[in-house]
Amino acid sequence: MRITLGVTGGVAAYKAAELVRRLQQEGYNVQVVMTRSAREFITPLTFAALSGQKVITDLFGDSSGSEANLESAIEHIAVAQRTDLLLVAPATADIIAKFARGVADDFLTTLYLASTAPVVIAPAMNVNMWNHAATQENVEMLRARGAKIVEPDEGYLACGMTGPGRLAGLEEILAAVREVTKSQRDLEGETILVSAGPTCEDLDPVRYITNRSSGKMGYAVAEAAAKRGARVFLVSGPVNLETPAGVERIDVRTAEEMHRAVVEQFAQASVAILAAAVADYRPVERRGEKIKKGVAPLAISLEPTTDILAAVARNKGEKIVVGFAAETDHVAEHARKKLASKNADLIVANDVTAEGAGFDRDTNVVTLFSRDGRDLALPKMPKSEVAQRIMDEVIRLRALRQAPAARHSNV
Ligand code: CTP
Repeated sequence: MRITLGVTGGVAAYKAAELVRRLQQEGYNVQVVMTRSAREFITPLTFAALSGQKVITDLFGDSSGSEANLESAIEHIAVAQRTDLLLVAPATADIIAKFARGVADDFLTTLYLASTAPVVIAPAMNVNMWNHAATQENVEMLRARGAKIVEPDEGYLACGMTGPGRLAGLEEILAAVREVTKSQRDLEGETILVSAGPTCEDLDPVRYITNRSSGKMGYAVAEAAAKRGARVFLVSGPVNLETPAGVERIDVRTAEEMHRAVVEQFAQASVAILAAAVADYRPVERRGEKIKKGVAPLAISLEPTTDILAAVARNKGEKIVVGFAAETDHVAEHARKKLASKNADLIVANDVTAEGAGFDRDTNVVTLFSRDGRDLALPKMPKSEVAQRIMDEVIRLRALRQAPAARHSNV
């Protein structure tokens, strides 16, 4: 789990050094981001030495070279995507106000807006600043957005006053981090099989038939499932993507190979999410030598491949099976038909012609059609976020399935 620790300017900034050590001892990977005022209280070198990672201090690097600036400007997006939890300790009244109002004028505030990770905030400030209606309103606003606030302790403050405002104890902050990360691991105990990417059906040693597919959606699903604690097997067609952390990947090329690998892995899976763009047809004959060019029209005979989704869903028993539907028209109608004909529990349908959807993009626009009749139309969002929503729906369907059994056992 990757934690980004935001350190802001306050006397308590030195306590964040011990926090880094404790988080690391608990197995978290910690990236420190410091605001300008934090650097008045403690040096980045302290955190760099403790975390073993470069500390991020600016939105735009100190260097005036345009390349360095560009690198720095896009780095917050990369850090945002890598972050599993954003922790700010100590958090000043200023950073709380900026987060609440969406001001993005440095690295940490920009990261807050760019990240979808859960947020934990441990405020520390003067008692009057903490009690001020402006701060309390801002804190409430963040809480309403889902941030976990680790309330400051009461006591003697550096400013000489006594009251609430002292950074909460490390144990309390660590407990909040544990609680939030645990709730993120709601797929622990599940074994999830994901298929992704295209398949390639060879005509001869140099040519093949394939589908347009980057594999990004399936890889995002595998990554989300692994981060939420599932054991994940990813059966992947040829793609140009890195294997997500903690995912066991099985590479295949053809629909037949994918069929074999999926059936094999399905035996041990509790959930299957088949996002691959499997070729529906393959050449009847694969030539051993390259087909030579001629003047006459060339006819290629194709035969259907196995519908992998339908094949595994036929005997799914208690397992949850999710399919995708890439459509260009009548999306809902086709998706509902696929849900029934393939015996799936959920179909993730997208209109590949819609703006912000489809191939080789980082965003998607989908509707989730569930077995129990629910249609959930999602707005355009990053594929990583779509993946999270799919996992939420899997958990909902699992609970629905278990509910009658639970009632039965109570009788
Ligand atoms: N699928 C599969 N095996 C195939 C074809 C498709 O497992 N041979 C799965 C895909 O992984 C996806 C779902 O079926 O989860 C729907 O794929 P899609 O291409 O949208 O639908 P098809 O069933 O191929 O129907 P059509 O191409 O006629 O729309």
